[in-house]
Amino acid sequence: MAVARLSTRMTRLLGVEHPIALGGMAGHGGPELVAAVSEAGGLGVLGATVLAPDSVAGVAADIRNRTGRPFGLNLLLFQTGRELVSAVLEAAPAVLSTAWAPPEFDLRSLFEAAHERGLLAMHMVSTLPEARAAEAAGADLIVAQGTEGGGHVGTMGTTVLVRQVAREAQVPVLGAGGFADGAGLAAALALGAEGILLGTRFLATVESPLPDSFKQVIVESDGHSTLLTEIPDLATNRVWPGAYARVTRNRLVEDWLGRENELRRHQVEVLARIQAARQAGDPGYAVLYAGQTAGLIDSVRPAREVVESLVAEAASVIGELAARLRAEDSPA
Ligand SMILES: Cc1cc2nc3c(=O)[nH]c(=O)nc-3n(C[C@H](O)[C@H](O)[C@H](O)COP(=O)(O)O)c2cc1C
Repeated sequence: MAVARLSTRMTRLLGVEHPIALGGMAGHGGPELVAAVSEAGGLGVLGATVLAPDSVAGVAADIRNRTGRPFGLNLLLFQTGRELVSAVLEAAPAVLSTAWAPPEFDLRSLFEAAHERGLLAMHMVSTLPEARAAEAAGADLIVAQGTEGGGHVGTMGTTVLVRQVAREAQVPVLGAGGFADGAGLAAALALGAEGILLGTRFLATVESPLPDSFKQVIVESDGHSTLLTEIPDLATNRVWPGAYARVTRNRLVEDWLGRENELRRHQVEVLARIQAARQAGDPGYAVLYAGQTAGLIDSVRPAREVVESLVAEAASVIGELAARLRAEDSPA
């Protein structure tokens, strides 16, 4: 059966088939997942923030061995040193994907350096002023990420933020945070986005490197079990500029919620417990980053199936909606 196609400014700019991107997820994605999304016609993005600078070329080569299609490398700018930035630019992915720049960060110089090497710059924001700054600095695409998303997010809801940014931006905007199916993609397009970027949905795929026990938490969640907290950042001793972490409630969260001052005192031992839980695949005490879309995800699927069904569903939602509304409009 022919795969549905939705052509947007995003697909044309990036030279991809589908208006779907995988969020760079440092420490939670991997070359296999990135390549699977790109091979399926989306844009795979690898979170490079946790890589040693001298390993970036090898990881990029690993992705290129799996796919000849465009992919991106992502950097969390508040915690990235110069050497890592240089290594990522040297690796020359199609897209330099960035997020969480401190206010004083020189985005313009970074995007210029990317452009000189032929990379497109895609920057993620959680507020309208950040979007304005990113566009003024020369971003080629803006990802507007709302608070429903997994991992680190701001406090604006996706529907408002995407609409605000899309109304103003001249460059293509991707919606992120809360998208997991075709109805969501159709909604994002209706809000003026040119595509969507997803994290949680792709964590629950066959190619995701997460332990099966973590994927199962997402599948079993009804979406009401996630919350915004600073617990993971207090435990890792890291201050994110303007973000909370959206995680799934587990023993770790129950232990420290409302006792954050105590957690500061016990930071070293809690971090050790978290790392041991991650190692052992124990969802009880690991940090389980996940968005509210966990409530829309019912099974672990191959990434290609996720991408293709998102597009097929969106195409049919758009068609059916137009037909339904026309029919209801016309006199009986
Ligand atoms: C486990 C996890 C790790 C993440 N790490 C990063 C990261 O390193 N860089 C980044 O720009 N975004 C990161 N994000 C955010 C995603 O790129 C994306 O914006 C978010 O997952 C979208 O919301 P969704 O989970 O509802 O799809 C992460 C998200 C998750 C769930």
